This record gives sequence, structure tokens and C-alpha cells, in this order.
Amino acid sequence: MRKPGPIWPRVTAWVSREAQDRDCGNDRDPTLHGPLRLNGSFRRSDARIGAAAGAPCSSVAFGFPSPPAGPPTRKDAMMPHDRPRLPDDGRPVVLAHKTFLASREALASLSLKDRFRFIHDHNLWGAATSASGLGSEAGATRAIRDGLPGLLDGLGVATLLDAPCGDAGWIVGVDLGAIRYVGVDIVPDLIARNRTEHPPGFEFRVADITRDTLPEADAILCRDGLVHLSFSNIDGALANFRRSGARWLVTTTFTQWQANRDCEDGDWRALNFERAPFAWGPPLRLLDERCEEGGGGWRDKSLAVWDLAATARP
Ligand SMILES: C[S@@+](CC[C@H](N)C(=O)[O-])C[C@H]1O[C@@H](n2cnc3c(N)ncnc32)[C@H](O)[C@@H]1O
Repeated sequence: MRKPGPIWPRVTAWVSREAQDRDCGNDRDPTLHGPLRLNGSFRRSDARIGAAAGAPCSSVAFGFPSPPAGPPTRKDAMMPHDRPRLPDDGRPVVLAHKTFLASREALASLSLKDRFRFIHDHNLWGAATSASGLGSEAGATRAIRDGLPGLLDGLGVATLLDAPCGDAGWIVGVDLGAIRYVGVDIVPDLIARNRTEHPPGFEFRVADITRDTLPEADAILCRDGLVHLSFSNIDGALANFRRSGARWLVTTTFTQWQANRDCEDGDWRALNFERAPFAWGPPLRLLDERCEEGGGGWRDKSLAVWDLAATARP
């Protein structure tokens, strides 16, 4: 792994502070079967889990045609919408944004692919166990690993396109049953490593979600992807998703975020797809990620389901 000269000491300091800020336990996560990367190598099931581990998946239906069986529990009702309100201002700074700003000059002249290659090569998202960043580590993905199978089952998904998949470290630990999985990412090194290190049932391809022809699927999982793209590339990705013929989009949204703003490619900012300029209306389903990053300052982070037809601008 190449290391950038001037920013690396600062990034390392931020990363270790970030790790301290996260309240991680020492238990091993019994539900994580997939390997997680540690500085370029993989450790099997060797991740530390977050303090809220044990919380079951929480999902709630908003007029969805076939909600999961079983009575709702009190935890189902504890959705991000119901918790104390989080204003946009004063939320904790996210490491991916901080490291982007520190590398902005180096990134400025790079193509979209090379921006994310640079971020990958320099581990700018700073996680010890995942090239995809802090939000892709074991503790941060426990709720979605628990909740995703039920969500996909309710949607009748036979083929899932994970776009972008990153290092796919958490999703290979999800019991997808008979669902066919295809992951795509713009960084060829990631895809090459995913192919050799993940089970053969998981298929991986290099693709730019904003423009390349995508594999056919029933649902596209786009977790922690659009938040790193400019509005214009988000438009490109959404148009491309619709062109792929997929029916459902399962994507990251911050349910209490009020004012969406544009950003440079490779940066990070929160997005709420119920708000302008997207205004897709309420999602059909919501899966609370139970995000603990930033001391709970991003606890409205969720995976939400929309019909892709609803994502087209009028
Ligand atoms: C934060 S990671 C999220 C990965 C995964 N979805 C997860 O939940 O762990 C974002 C990924 O998006 C990829 N990416 C960014 N822009 C892309 C594009 N236009 N096409 C395909 N992949 C892209 C990056 O290379 C990176 O691996």
C-alpha cells in the first residue's frame, strides 16, 4: 500500500482517535462468517463488535405490499424517525470528509476511477478491518446483516446487485439463501481481491455505476455509495440503475437530514432522499442501521427501499 507523504501522519492520528471514539467491545461476532481485511490482509471472523451488538434488526413497513411475518415489536417502533431529533448543524465530523479535505489537492485532477483508487490505495476511510471504511466494519453492520435477508425476502429478490460493493467484507457474512449475488466496484484491485478471497458463490465485476452496463438484478443495494458522489454523478448512477431493469433500490439515507447539498466526487456528506433535490417520497421499507459512529450523531442512518421508477426526476 502506497502512503501519501504529508497527510499520512494526520490521517493516522484521526483514525486512531476515531477508533477510540467508537465504543467497541472485545467480543467476537459469532454471526460474521466472512473475512475482513486488516491492512491489506484478511482475518476470518476477527472483528470487534460495537456496544449495541445484540440489538435485532429493526425494520418498518410504509405501505409495503408484503411485510415480514410476525407481530411488530417495541424495537421495531424505535425507528430513527422516533428518536430525539438530530439537527443538520452540529453533527460530528465524519472521517471520510476530513481525509478528503486533506487530500483534495491530490484528488483534484483525477478521474472518478482514480479518485476512488487513490482513496483505496491510501486507506483514506481509515478503518482497520475494512477498505470500505468505518461503516463497513463488523459492529457497524450487525443490524443490517441481521435485517437484510428478511428485507430482500419481502421484496421477492432472486438476484441482488451490490453496487458499489467495496471489499464486500460484511455482505459475505449475510445468509442470502438462494439469492444470486453480484458485486461491482470501480476499483479493479478491490474486485480482484474480492474474487480470490470471498466464497465462489459471490460474483464480482469491475464497473462504474454511473455509466457502465450493469448486470441484471431484481434489486440494487447501493449502501454508502451515493453519499460519496456529486449530484451530477448521482443522477448518472440513478439513470444507469433504472436502465439496468432492476425494480428496487436499497440505499443509504439519513432520515432526519434536512438540507441535501452537492459535494465533490470522493468526499462524503449525508443525504436524505425524501428531501430536495430528490424528493422520492417515503421509502417502502426502512432498515435502521443502529449507527453508533460519532457518539450517535448519525443514528438516523438507514437502508431504505424505493421503487426505482420513483427515483426519476419529473
Ligand atoms: C464506502 S464504500 C461502501 C462499500 C459497500 N457498499 C459497503 O457497504 O461496505 C464505497 C465504495 O464505492 C466505490 N465507488 C465509488 N464510486 C463508484 C462508481 N462510480 N462506480 C462503482 N463503484 C464506486 C468505491 O470504490 C468504494 O469501494
